[in-house]
Amino acid sequence: MTVGFVPTMGALHDGHLSLIRRAREEHHRVVVSVFVNPLQFGPDEDYARYPRNEVQDVRLCRDAGCDWFFHPRVGSLYGTDFHVTVDPGPIGEVWEGAVRPGHFRGVATVVMKLVHLVEPDELYLGQKDFQQARVLQTVARDLDLPVRMTIGATARERDGLALSSRNAYLSADERARAPGLFRAMREGRSLSQNGVRESRKILARVRSVLRHESRPDKVDYLAIVDPTSLKSLARVDDIALLIGAIRIGKTRLIDNLHIRPRGRAKRGRG
Ligand code: PAJ
Repeated sequence: MTVGFVPTMGALHDGHLSLIRRAREEHHRVVVSVFVNPLQFGPDEDYARYPRNEVQDVRLCRDAGCDWFFHPRVGSLYGTDFHVTVDPGPIGEVWEGAVRPGHFRGVATVVMKLVHLVEPDELYLGQKDFQQARVLQTVARDLDLPVRMTIGATARERDGLALSSRNAYLSADERARAPGLFRAMREGRSLSQNGVRESRKILARVRSVLRHESRPDKVDYLAIVDPTSLKSLARVDDIALLIGAIRIGKTRLIDNLHIRPRGRAKRGRG
């Protein structure tokens, strides 16, 4: 008997459900956890107002084929005498980790605990949070976690906006600006497909489309990186990853897209 496991923070949407359905196809039993993990939120972040909708989550999970719904209390995972955490090292310190210090320590710690409690054969993660998936792959490798990992493609709205529980924060005007992030990245991808290899040129175009379409209140970062090391690339000579994080009003949006130079065959999705 094999177990597939989808860890989440709830307020489930089609991105989560696509992972649950995939786990359903590939395993005898499917476990979904819903736990808004205080350890991965900074002091000025949205832990208190993060959307919570347990009744609907239970129903959506059941309909997607989940067998076990795991909804631990904060006090049962983090007792008053809780001290030990997992530091993922350099891969957790760049990009999201630089903007949100301690975030990936919180993610790595809770996922480590959940994996020990659930004992799954396979963990299902989303490409939407690409750095998170890389961090967890690194933790699993370095700490010999006996679990396989699968990364599912990013589920999007029709206009390209990546599904996220945080999209619920967007006002109508902000929601209209939000898909600009994906559109700007798609422009960057077509530039590289048309033969432009200098990251500087691609990023200049992405930035200009983003400014025009999203009018972001802040760009936390926009970069072209090596998909394994997450180090910045000056040129796109092989498959690379375009990553970005912006703020529209009070809401943070992140997204990423694989890009490849002209003539390089497509590998995988997204
Ligand atoms: P959460 O944001 O709820 O996401 C749970 C899982 O769903 C993650 O693996 C995430 O990458 C994936 N996901 C989110 N949006 C997606 C989309 N549009 N398409 C495909 N997959 C998507 O990520 C977390 O929770 C937490 O950090 C967690 C790993 C549960 C640890 O607390």
